[in-house]
Amino acid sequence: MKFINPYLLAISTVFFVNCSSNKETLTLKDSYKNDFYIGTALSADQIEEKDAKVDSLIRTEFNAITAENIMKSMYTHPQKDKYDFTLSDKFVAYGEKNKMFIHGHTLIWHSQLAPWMEKIADSTEMKAFMKDHITTIVSKYKGRINSWDVVNEALNEDGTLRPSVFLKTLGEKYLVDAFKLAAKADPKVDLYYNDYNIEEPAKRAGAIALIKKIKAEGGKIDGVGIQGHWRLHSPSIEEIEKSILEYSALGIKVAFTELDITVLPNPWDLKGADVNQNFEGSAKMNPYPKTLPDSVQTKLAERYASIFKLFLKHKDKISRVTFWGVYDGQSWLNDWPIKGRTNYPLPFDKDLKHKPAYDSILKLNKTEE
Ligand code: XIL
Repeated sequence: MKFINPYLLAISTVFFVNCSSNKETLTLKDSYKNDFYIGTALSADQIEEKDAKVDSLIRTEFNAITAENIMKSMYTHPQKDKYDFTLSDKFVAYGEKNKMFIHGHTLIWHSQLAPWMEKIADSTEMKAFMKDHITTIVSKYKGRINSWDVVNEALNEDGTLRPSVFLKTLGEKYLVDAFKLAAKADPKVDLYYNDYNIEEPAKRAGAIALIKKIKAEGGKIDGVGIQGHWRLHSPSIEEIEKSILEYSALGIKVAFTELDITVLPNPWDLKGADVNQNFEGSAKMNPYPKTLPDSVQTKLAERYASIFKLFLKHKDKISRVTFWGVYDGQSWLNDWPIKGRTNYPLPFDKDLKHKPAYDSILKLNKTEE
């Protein structure tokens, strides 16, 4: 009989047990693989794989991607007769290479518009713009991009329509037209309406009315994207749950598309994610420039746990949960709504390490088989 070294046997047993049963070996995407996609938003550098460590984290933890900025109209369509798909081609290729769900963000949005679009003043020109813009981009990635934010942030806080350049030139018909154009360019791709604060009652009612109208007028809409730029204490779990139920009752998918949780003070009681709102900073407004105190770290972990517990309860209605950024150090919340603060909104810290929030999200799920 061959001699078996008992020491090696013991070591390999420990190794095997750890690998097969220790939760530490799970990742976000594996843990939630039977529930919904777990996504992240990629910066231009991440699309270009500039940092190998970050790239490995993205590929290990996430199975869905959104481009944080480079597919917005100011980048893809900088001039009337000029499209630039250099980075969006790389983004889609990255998702395909890594077998990820690829989400397109975004086609019709009043912010981060190319300057020439803001100057469009009459309905004929705007109609021509919408047709060319949506058809060109959606057709280009037909069958490769899995879902699109067709319209982003069309609503005011009270649920009425935002007076954007689109509404001013075309009236509310621009909404259904945008969805029709996108469906025509790629009949199989999932089409979403995306917005912030649409879990709040008044704005939610506006979003529901808008979705119903798009359907009634013959538009194809497959889902709603609740951005999820949230705070430690609001919105309440109850309002989020009502939103999941009310939106899915319309026969559409619910996605959480830009999830992050600010831990920093907000003296104006600012809610949501209006990228055009900016304020002056001060030391009081940036209380944790070096590290996050344990007490707040724990609160953040508990908040993420209660949110994901709710998501799991309604996993049959939820298609995707995407974090807005990969790790704290690169979050847009370090610069919005005040520039130069240090925020801690994501499950990975500035050194790419798991935070207690990460463990609390992972622990909730049982997928160990
Ligand atoms: C943000 C990006 O994260 C920032 O880098 C950029 O400066 C402004 O836009 N709602 C959206 C996102 O739909 O596109 C916004 O992203 C955040 C709010």
